[in-house]
Amino acid sequence: HIPVLCIDGPSASGKGTLAAELAARLGYHLLDSGLLYRLVGLAAERAGLDTAAAALQQPQQAAALGRLAQQLLVRFEQGRVWLGHEDVTDEVRSEAAGMAASRVAVVPEVRAALLDLQRNFRRLPGLVADGRDMGSVIFPDAALKVYLTASAAQRAQRRLWQLQERGESATIKDLLADLEARDERDRSRSAAPLKPAEGALLLDNSALSIEQSVQQVLDWWQA
Ligand code: CDP
Repeated sequence: HIPVLCIDGPSASGKGTLAAELAARLGYHLLDSGLLYRLVGLAAERAGLDTAAAALQQPQQAAALGRLAQQLLVRFEQGRVWLGHEDVTDEVRSEAAGMAASRVAVVPEVRAALLDLQRNFRRLPGLVADGRDMGSVIFPDAALKVYLTASAAQRAQRRLWQLQERGESATIKDLLADLEARDERDRSRSAAPLKPAEGALLLDNSALSIEQSVQQVLDWWQA
């Protein structure tokens, strides 16, 4: 039985940082499921599919997107991410890719297409999985489920730092609006809506350092 530790929660709550640190300390594999949705968003744009929210409500568009997600040609190589023959490591982290991910993630056919791909990350000695539905849908039998939150102001500030590191600029006001639009879409969708999984432990890290958050989760893990 391969142990899984799930970190779910809203946009820019610090899941990625926490999950990567936990995986490193435990010597476990890491699944960044948001990255897969970002790749589907990029692949759809490359293929000329309309990813506007309204277009995706049409059954034919949703089916086409599901097929595309099913055939996603993704490779992870020495810290780089490849989509077909293209190195998309940088682009996949852009705010635009995040917004596209949030639109395609609403489509049930896309979520279904990514099920096996995500479950295949469960390998010995263990897995830390980061996303929205890791504890609820993908790994309901996980040994520990954490639902990570932070205040909206804190999350917008973190997203700004993240983008600035990449050389992108933005205003807090726009980022706050983006985060709220994404969270609203994640919460209100019918397929795997964002909410704490059954049995999840809540962690609000607004006033915690990364190290404090890591320690809290390790304490729960070892309990
Ligand atoms: O960095 P941020 O948390 O904003 O984004 P992410 O974790 O890379 O995920 C991008 C988008 O994919 C999110 O806004 C969600 O709508 C979607 N997503 C999802 O629906 N289910 C997951 N397990 C992971 C991400």
